[in-house]
Amino acid sequence: MPSREFDFDAVIDRRASASSKWNRYAGRDVIPMWVADMDFRTAPCIVAELERRVAHGVFGYTDPPAELPGVVAAAMARDFGWRIEPDWIVWLPSLVVGLNVVARAFAGPGEAVLTATPIYPPFLSAPRHGGRGVVQVPLIEDGGRWCWDFDALERAVTPAVRVLLLCSPHNPTGRMWTQAELTRIAQIAMRHDLVIVADEIHAGLALDADRRHLPLAGLDPAIAQRTVTLQSASKTWNIPGLGCAFAVVSDPPLRARMRRVMAGIVADPGAMGLFAALAAYRDGEPWRRALVAYLRGNRDRLERALESLPGLRSWHVEATYLAWIDTRALALEAPVRHFEAHGVGLHDGALFAAPGFVRLNFACPRVLLDEALARMRRALDGI
Ligand SMILES: Cc1ncc(COP(=O)(O)O)c(C=O)c1O
Repeated sequence: MPSREFDFDAVIDRRASASSKWNRYAGRDVIPMWVADMDFRTAPCIVAELERRVAHGVFGYTDPPAELPGVVAAAMARDFGWRIEPDWIVWLPSLVVGLNVVARAFAGPGEAVLTATPIYPPFLSAPRHGGRGVVQVPLIEDGGRWCWDFDALERAVTPAVRVLLLCSPHNPTGRMWTQAELTRIAQIAMRHDLVIVADEIHAGLALDADRRHLPLAGLDPAIAQRTVTLQSASKTWNIPGLGCAFAVVSDPPLRARMRRVMAGIVADPGAMGLFAALAAYRDGEPWRRALVAYLRGNRDRLERALESLPGLRSWHVEATYLAWIDTRALALEAPVRHFEAHGVGLHDGALFAAPGFVRLNFACPRVLLDEALARMRRALDGI
């Protein structure tokens, strides 16, 4: 059902807005489908909140609004059945900053962080920035979907590994890990006394109608005690340019370790990000529901189209607005450049530790998606 209230079909020219996504192809006729932001205007309730704040005109140092931690806690309970205390929240200017902080806080120099690949690139770069190692365990395909290889995971935990970095829902495969999968991951982490960091930034973007995101820390108090959950309104409400994220850390010693690493270096979120998050979690649910319905329509259209494109393999996207595509059967020397030459800008799987794959962001008006798919079809003609 198209939303009558919110117009996701509107094509908005982002080229004059210094958009990173559109700047990459400035002056070229390439539809950008690489970085993970959406070509939709955010929720009207967020725009209204920001307009109120702008009209005030004074932009001094700003604390998180007093009601914000409670609003976030209520939203986690409402949306995911996850009970958190407002004082478990540690504010961050971005989730990637959080990834860098946790690598330094919970693994020492010479120690390592473990993660499953393919994976969102900062999972690989954040530990390295801090001089920490990265141990990679490849996901495996099982029954037509991407899964953890639990035996390989168990074997990969050397004494140097101190942190398990989990992306849930998973960027780039679009998997929503089941309760059974999450429990097994957590059990392995507990057996080896690892801190678990769960990046759940895509939690609001569950596309399958019968599924709800399961926060890892909500499974069991013993799991929660060793888990840092990273969250943000930025993906779901399309406000990553406003710079606001947070960690939920129930264990006081873990929270203190994070704060020590952040002290004097990590800035607080800016006023706009804080007020936008307030409006998103308090008032943004109707918009989110309409967004998910629209994204589901885009996903279904994309999945039908990809089935008929020769040489490409892809997987059902359970959550996120990102499709993961295997181009290896085409034996292209540079898949991203090939599609760019035909007017579609995809993200390079090599950055995710998976050369030969590409990631396609389908969070755009349907006319743009259809045009991109037509261009991809032409790109494949004659190979
Ligand atoms: C899994 C994941 N974590 C973090 C981020 C980025 O978060 P932020 O913009 O708050 O740094 C993204 C953006 O695509 C993401 O997909």
